[in-house]
Amino acid sequence: MTMTVNGSPVSLPHDARVSLLDLVREHLHLPGTKKGCNQGACGACTVLVDGERILSCLALAVQFEGRSVTTIEGVGTPGALHPLQAAFIEHDGFQCGYCTPGQICSAIGMAQEIRRGVPSHVTADLAAPDIAPTRDELRERMSGNLCRCGTHNGIIDAIAEIVSADVLLPEPAQ
Ligand code: FES
Ligand code: FES
Repeated sequence: MTMTVNGSPVSLPHDARVSLLDLVREHLHLPGTKKGCNQGACGACTVLVDGERILSCLALAVQFEGRSVTTIEGVGTPGALHPLQAAFIEHDGFQCGYCTPGQICSAIGMAQEIRRGVPSHVTADLAAPDIAPTRDELRERMSGNLCRCGTHNGIIDAIAEIVSADVLLPEPAQ
């Protein structure tokens, strides 16, 4: 039983109790994905599974046989930043950086949700063919990702720039 993580095949753990978060951090030694609350409340552990954002602390690794998992290490590298990573730097979207991998993975998945027309709690017109990525939309959709340093304004500035430039989401690197 295998899945792929950042494009590489990975064997699923024998212990069915291992979370996806612990698989990537402890078994695969990919420390970019962070363990904040470990109970679904902070978003620090957000990764992409087949392009959709999930909280890896609440997911068991064995659920993902045959699926494609992307962590922050698969989104960009220091020499080849994802456009959103560059925008976070430009807009001071982080301080300590602990929440940042989760913020970026979440924003990538979130932008795909907007493109697919998935409404949020603040979407005014549920019948509109396109959802405008207003700041209210972005704040609502990113509300599951907490930043203990309080850099939410910079985070939303960075996401807004990339979403409005329509360059968010080249597919994440595999
Ligand atoms: S560590 Fe998963 S939501 Fe906080
Ligand atoms: S940058 Fe420190 S928690 Fe967000």
